[in-house]
Amino acid sequence: MSTDPKNERRSRKVTTRSLRSMKEQREPISSLTAYDYLTAELLDQAGIDMILVGDSAGMVVQGLETTVGVTLEQMLYHCQVVTRGVERALVVGDMPFMSYQVNADEALRNAGRMIKESGVEAVKLEGGEKLCETVRRIVDVGIPVMGHLGLTPQSIHKFGTYQVRATEPEEAAQLRRDALALEAAGAFAVVIEKVPATLATEISQALAIPVIGIGAGIGCDGQILVTHDMLGLYNRFHPRFVRRYAELGRDTLAAFARYRADVKTREFPGPEESY
Ligand code: KIV
Repeated sequence: MSTDPKNERRSRKVTTRSLRSMKEQREPISSLTAYDYLTAELLDQAGIDMILVGDSAGMVVQGLETTVGVTLEQMLYHCQVVTRGVERALVVGDMPFMSYQVNADEALRNAGRMIKESGVEAVKLEGGEKLCETVRRIVDVGIPVMGHLGLTPQSIHKFGTYQVRATEPEEAAQLRRDALALEAAGAFAVVIEKVPATLATEISQALAIPVIGIGAGIGCDGQILVTHDMLGLYNRFHPRFVRRYAELGRDTLAAFARYRADVKTREFPGPEESY
């Protein structure tokens, strides 16, 4: 048996197929976002099953107000540096706004660039029934696609709010149709964001493919959070569905302030840090 953790991780490589069997065996799927090499390596070492290079990079890395301004070239860069740090997890690249909506040909070309130029193993796009032809075309050439329903941040200007989605029967019925349509089009998984837990549970039970929830309750097949949120690094807003597993924003600020004070008082560097 290999004792090298790198070989060990590689031999347990997560694929779209293994995610499906995790669902079948009722093993919850763990997923978080990454935008850089170091974080990706740590997520992989922690055994996270799926790493999403989310276009949330626009907000938590670039400081944009929304994800709308993120470009394909920027996503390619984030995806390239993330895949370098990963041996085991399945890496999914988010297709940015307007890289897949114009028509299926353009979507296919851009999904191909994500896979070929960055090494991600699958792409994610926001939308349901209306995008199914595009999803089918991308899947047909061998690129796995993950859908994203419920709160779809790229449509923020249409909805005008980040409130809970599908609370009304009509929107809930559309969400069910969208999820079923994505599965029929060949999607390997669906992210469902910020919808009532009962609805997400029902959809998870209705689909054979894994449903990954974010603010969608415990009944989903897996969970995803934005890493910068769960580490307490991003403070612009704090949705109730985010559980903070660390306070790195607070701790990092304290470290920076201590360093500054040590420099100002000539406490740093000491003799042991000098040559
Ligand atoms: O961009 C992102 O990080 C996402 C997750 C919130 C699912 O789409």
